[in-house]
Amino acid sequence: MAGYIVEDTRKVTTVRLAEMKRQGKRIAMLTSYDYSMAQIVDQAGVDVILIGDSAGNVMAGNQTTIPVTLDEMIYHGRCVARAVKRALVVCDMPFGTYHASRQAAVENAVRLMQGSGVDALKLEGGVEIIEMIRGIISAGIPVMGHLGLTPQSVNKFGGYGLRASNQKEAEKLISDAHALQEAGCFALVLEKIPAWLTTQVCQELEIPVIGIGGGPADGQVLVVHDMLGMNKGFSPKFLRRYADLFTVITDAVGNYVSDVKSGDFPNEKEQY
Ligand code: KIV
Repeated sequence: MAGYIVEDTRKVTTVRLAEMKRQGKRIAMLTSYDYSMAQIVDQAGVDVILIGDSAGNVMAGNQTTIPVTLDEMIYHGRCVARAVKRALVVCDMPFGTYHASRQAAVENAVRLMQGSGVDALKLEGGVEIIEMIRGIISAGIPVMGHLGLTPQSVNKFGGYGLRASNQKEAEKLISDAHALQEAGCFALVLEKIPAWLTTQVCQELEIPVIGIGGGPADGQVLVVHDMLGMNKGFSPKFLRRYADLFTVITDAVGNYVSDVKSGDFPNEKEQY
């Protein structure tokens, strides 16, 4: 069972993640959106499970994460939280639920925490949302930041290209990263930025930095459907595929269809 972490079965907490950074132990994070997948991902030794609003893409088939609602995240969060024993469970606050005011952000964060049973929340953005982040943390909710490519702002940036590739944007990202740490975020996701910038932020921050498409960091995150090869149409340079479930599932379903049609299934042993 190569790759399985079995020696430390204690529940992962935000405090443990900080310790892991200090000890130079890398953090493995993956998304999940449902009970069955979350159970497998947790048992395979992933440290942090994210109920990403990428649920809107991979589960619902939307082009962007913008249509995802708080009720949908509560549903996915509850399915995952019920399955997980070891990993820290983090849930995305969806588009439009934390910008209107500090009070609205805290109310929505409390609803998401109580309705789902997750351990922590993730919010996209820097200084623009710092007051909302402070409010949520002061309500006792751990917050993970997210900078670089922030998919909820796709219409503002006009696409999903590399972020912070010029000096001005890189300086803004560094100062946002410090602001998030000072506001009390326990970790930070950096998405699709140059590797040198990820390295610099990892060195400057005490909190763990989790990369996706940003080169080496204190940890890495991928969308589970992408790394399992369930989705043929999405092949960015940063994605490593660990399985070809598209082919595995297509073959299995194709065999089932032909067995049903030929009358081979069910056979004598498969009936009462
Ligand atoms: O929604 C998501 O899955 C994410 C990860 C890609 C970091 O935010």
